[in-house]
Amino acid sequence: MYMTYRGFMLPKETHSSESLKFAQEFTFKDEDVVSVTYPKSGTIWMQEILPLVLSGGDLTPIQTIPNWDRVPWLEEKRLALIVDQLASPRALVTHFPYHLMPPSFLTSKAKVIYVMRNPKDIVVSSYYFHQMAQFLEDPGTFDEFMEKFLEGRVLFGKWTDHVKSWRHAELGDRIMYITYEEMVQDLPAVLRRISDFLGRNLSEDTIHKIAEHCSFKTMKANSMSNFSLVPKLYMDSDKSPFLRKGVAGDWKNHFNSEQLARFTSVIYKELEGESFSLPWSLD
Ligand code: A3P
Repeated sequence: MYMTYRGFMLPKETHSSESLKFAQEFTFKDEDVVSVTYPKSGTIWMQEILPLVLSGGDLTPIQTIPNWDRVPWLEEKRLALIVDQLASPRALVTHFPYHLMPPSFLTSKAKVIYVMRNPKDIVVSSYYFHQMAQFLEDPGTFDEFMEKFLEGRVLFGKWTDHVKSWRHAELGDRIMYITYEEMVQDLPAVLRRISDFLGRNLSEDTIHKIAEHCSFKTMKANSMSNFSLVPKLYMDSDKSPFLRKGVAGDWKNHFNSEQLARFTSVIYKELEGESFSLPWSLD
């Protein structure tokens, strides 16, 4: 089910040694934009947002191209197949920690948007995702899955390592940090920041139009974005839809008090002494 790549566990369904070699040899262009996420932090949301912002609100890409071909994953098999069809400027997503990024990324001026999400909600989202994604291991009980998550025995390793790696990335003004929670709270405000960062001068009307097309409700109904094109054999939305709840704070419905205490202490300990602070309290 899984392969190991430089210490990270990855699903064989979507990754191969060829796709990882392709990622390492990928040539970034200065005008490329890459959104970086630890899994379940808002990746497919960015696959909707980026084409809309880059094109000034053209709905064609999000209505005609499946998200995995529209804004492909750097590390996944699809990229090699569709790279030549990508619209310019290209938008990509990746779950790679900073040190796995290819040499051409480091020397290019490609811009990066790092999306961070509260890890308590990530573990819940991931738990349901493992139930529906048939190419991933059954998560077991929530308690068991949380333990795996805290130990980093999950896709792309520990959340804390991922966040730290991109916080220490020496990218100057090439990188911007946003959070899933801000997007839930005020999407137009985040879209304005993204638009400025990418040098797009979008009108308020366009911002609001984009926000509407990137809402949870609209995306859930968009067959190019809700994974309904994927056969049930791979993703069973009867078990849990990919676009599941789309809220901040669902962890409150899943954590008991011992789990909360353990989770918080592990995460805080691993971030001790870091120069950045988390945008939310974990208690
Ligand atoms: P939940 O399982 O908590 O609902 P990723 O794309 O990185 O795999 O992350 C998936 C998570 O992002 C899921 O969280 C999904 O519902 C949420 N998501 C995707 N699009 C969203 C949107 N437009 N609004 C809010 N949440 C969204």
